[in-house]
Amino acid sequence: MPICLEYPMLSTIVDDLANRGWSRQPFFLPEALISALAAECRHRAAEGELSPAGVGRGTGQEVREAIRGDRIQWLEPGESEACDRYLTAMDSLRQALNQGLYLGLEDFECHFALYPPGAFYRRHVDRFRDDDRRAVSAILYLNENWQPQDGGQLRMFLAEDAQLDVQPEAGSLVVFLSGDIPHEVLPARRDRLSLTGWFRRRGNEPF
Ligand code: OGA
Ligand code: MN
Repeated sequence: MPICLEYPMLSTIVDDLANRGWSRQPFFLPEALISALAAECRHRAAEGELSPAGVGRGTGQEVREAIRGDRIQWLEPGESEACDRYLTAMDSLRQALNQGLYLGLEDFECHFALYPPGAFYRRHVDRFRDDDRRAVSAILYLNENWQPQDGGQLRMFLAEDAQLDVQPEAGSLVVFLSGDIPHEVLPARRDRLSLTGWFRRRGNEPF
């Protein structure tokens, strides 16, 4: 069954990014697809396919649990029907962002992420000092019945004194301009699952 992303949802995301640099859609994909993606993330974790996430880039990359404690696995096309449907949906979003905001987004890189209890990700910005290709961040949460006391909120620092905490509830998609919004993941008290990705522009281009 192909997913038909409703145009109003895509255009709301485009408008939100243009107006305030971030957007949140509580029901981005059908529940059945979210459950399939959550099951796949858990299966990959049980098979030992997720690895401790690094900080930094290339050879400078190192695992530092004092900064981030999640375990990740990058996605490739053709691995499963559920993942491919997610990638197709994200490509529709990429096209909508290009049409509405002229961002020139060329591709999308993404990984499953699992934060075990106690794991967190300290405040950071999703852009490397030596690589500015990441333009838009998109996180799809996969946790059914997440309660505020489970922790694990995404805290976004929107302005001097304005911060917003987002519950990582199943089906919810958060999108923001990668270079503009510092954010952190608060410690979770149960496994916290997501698909995290970045729309990228071509490298070495002035903008
Ligand atoms: C990241 C990140 C936020 C989240 O992986 O860079 O900030 O809510 N993730 O999972
Ligand atoms: Mn981040």
